[in-house]
Amino acid sequence: MKMRAAVLERFGEPLVVQEVELAEPRAGEVLVRLAACGVCHTDLYTASGADPSGYAPAVLGHEGAGVVEKVGEGVGSVAPGDHVVTLFSPQCRECIHCRDERTNLCLAIREEQNQGHLPDGTTRISRDGEDVRHFMGCSTFAEYTVMPEIALAKINPEAPFEHACLFACGLSTGLGAAINTAAVRAGSTCAIFGAGMVGLGAVAGCRLQGAERIICVDLSPERLELARGQGATDLLEGGEGTVERILEMTDGFGADYTFEATGSVAVMRQALEAARMGWGLCTVAGVAGKGETLDVVPRLLITGRRLAGSSFGGVKGRDQVPVLIDRYLDGEIDVAPFLSHRIALDEVNRGFELMEAQDGIRSVIEHS
Ligand SMILES: NC(=O)c1ccc[n+]([C@@H]2O[C@H](COP(=O)([O-])OP(=O)(O)OC[C@H]3O[C@@H](n4cnc5c(N)ncnc54)[C@H](O)[C@@H]3O)[C@@H](O)[C@H]2O)c1
Ligand SMILES: [Zn+2]
Ligand SMILES: [Zn+2]
Repeated sequence: MKMRAAVLERFGEPLVVQEVELAEPRAGEVLVRLAACGVCHTDLYTASGADPSGYAPAVLGHEGAGVVEKVGEGVGSVAPGDHVVTLFSPQCRECIHCRDERTNLCLAIREEQNQGHLPDGTTRISRDGEDVRHFMGCSTFAEYTVMPEIALAKINPEAPFEHACLFACGLSTGLGAAINTAAVRAGSTCAIFGAGMVGLGAVAGCRLQGAERIICVDLSPERLELARGQGATDLLEGGEGTVERILEMTDGFGADYTFEATGSVAVMRQALEAARMGWGLCTVAGVAGKGETLDVVPRLLITGRRLAGSSFGGVKGRDQVPVLIDRYLDGEIDVAPFLSHRIALDEVNRGFELMEAQDGIRSVIEHS
């Protein structure tokens, strides 16, 4: 079938929205009609050419929500008409990692996905007979996509697509960092560095876990106000001296849990230093630049601080994204403030510009 999609033709240049060919879903695959898709830093990172593992031509986008149109042979967990959220982090339920509660890093299709292929090593997208590769296994800057069944979470159809798509990446990452990776205990003191989509999700996750004090650190007063709306009790402007301020606010000890959601290695260091001796846990969610390393004084670890990383918030997508969306529908998570701009597929490059200007938290592409 023919569809419109935003193609990365050359790194560092705007995406080109054009008509491409999408082939039928094969065994284990699903055709999804996309209704909404968030524009995320990872898309821009690849489009800019900064990501050394990037490839082109490819259809970008990975924060999608839509409706199942058609399923390939052997697909049993979703059916036409089901509402789904796309998962760049799949869940096969069979590999050694999927069968272990300690991680969400499914091993089933990593290599093919990293190369822009579907699990059988080929692509469904093409243009004039030339293959166009898939991005993060999703390629949701498009009207339709074909994805593996194991990379789709079936959600409550009452959830509006423009909110549901935010659970495909940053929001679940932040919520999950607090709920799964850190498993914040009720009554704790938490400190979150960064109030973008991920950090605000972590603020909400700490609140849901029953944290008593939630300190949020950012450089932007507007974003700190959004953090207050998600449950932050103390707002701090970031920069030098932030660690000392957090220590002062916590009787000299530091926070029980700290979260880094900026991508800066200097802030990761601050987050570790702001964690409490004895049991403080620092969870890193930000993605640092290629080749950057984190500088840690080992004594901080010996005296009981711990450092953890979190990919997609440790969320096992097919099982847990639907649960998070139900909690949102129950009124536990206020998603509306994160949706800043509604744009058309043709305006995808404007979505990148808004993100670079830090105008709002998320622009969402909607299909009419
Ligand atoms: N681990 C994962 O699975 C995963 C998933 C999605 C995104 N990410 C990463 O998480 C990070 C955050 O993503 P986002 O979408 O929220 O980004 P964002 O750019 O919207 O938010 C980052 C925030 O950090 C703030 N910041 C910058 N320097 C700071 C400082 N010195 N002190 C305090 N705050 C500071 C910025 O003002 C901004 O509000 C990125 O690195 C992104 O690549 C990771
Ligand atoms: Zn994303
Ligand atoms: Zn798996």
